[in-house]
Amino acid sequence: MTMPLYQATAVRQGLGCSLRPGGDYLTRRILELTRPDAHQTVLDAGCGPGATLGLLRARGLYNCLGLDRDWPFLSEAKNDTLTVLQADLPRLPLADRTIDMILCECAWNLTPQKNVLAEFSRVLRPHGILAITDIFARTFDAVEGAWPVPCCFAGATDLETVRSLVVDAGFTVTLLEDHSRLLRETAAHFVFAHGSLHGFWLAVTGSTELADQACKASQVTKPGLFLLIAKRNPL
Ligand SMILES: C[S@@+](CC[C@H](N)C(=O)[O-])C[C@H]1O[C@@H](n2cnc3c(N)ncnc32)[C@H](O)[C@@H]1O
Repeated sequence: MTMPLYQATAVRQGLGCSLRPGGDYLTRRILELTRPDAHQTVLDAGCGPGATLGLLRARGLYNCLGLDRDWPFLSEAKNDTLTVLQADLPRLPLADRTIDMILCECAWNLTPQKNVLAEFSRVLRPHGILAITDIFARTFDAVEGAWPVPCCFAGATDLETVRSLVVDAGFTVTLLEDHSRLLRETAAHFVFAHGSLHGFWLAVTGSTELADQACKASQVTKPGLFLLIAKRNPL
């Protein structure tokens, strides 16, 4: 199978260890809006190489935990003061109602979304906070089979589907914002680095045919970027 987009050298070179559009902009927005207390337990679900864990620690949140299935990313994230665990998001190795807040940044679309929301709902305390940032598709019907590599774009739904999946999993959505500007800025960065969007996809896939397919997928699915914040309903 083709390597996932977030593991491609062209992406790591462009984004460093914040593997999502906009770097830490939306993470800072989440923390501004939700203001977790220092004693609260915060899970970064799909933490990748650990940029957000570093930011949480810098904000004085010492009870934070990073979880990812990719060991090379976790070993980048790991240090003496950070707790990281290798695990699969649909099977969280965590007890029921033990977490105060979950951040899931550009990882949810890579997973079976309903199962992962059920797990988030299980491990969060009542009124616990869930913050998801990910890609949405303005033309949801065009997504299936459109993308040539595993990536957040390939698992995207439209904003109304995102909202209803989260509500059906037992949450109250308190905010759903469109931050597509950050996705456009990231795309512009890759265009400058590789000459064109096609050049970027060629660097990622190594194939003109797959690069053509990715450019077409972008045109037909019309991707954007969302931030969702929700509260787990009490039982
Ligand atoms: C696009 S990267 C984002 C990483 C990080 N959240 C960030 O914003 O920099 C997606 C991450 O989700 C992780 N991931 C994908 N599917 C997963 C799963 N089923 N269980 C755990 N982690 C998963 C990948 O290994 C990768 O680190």
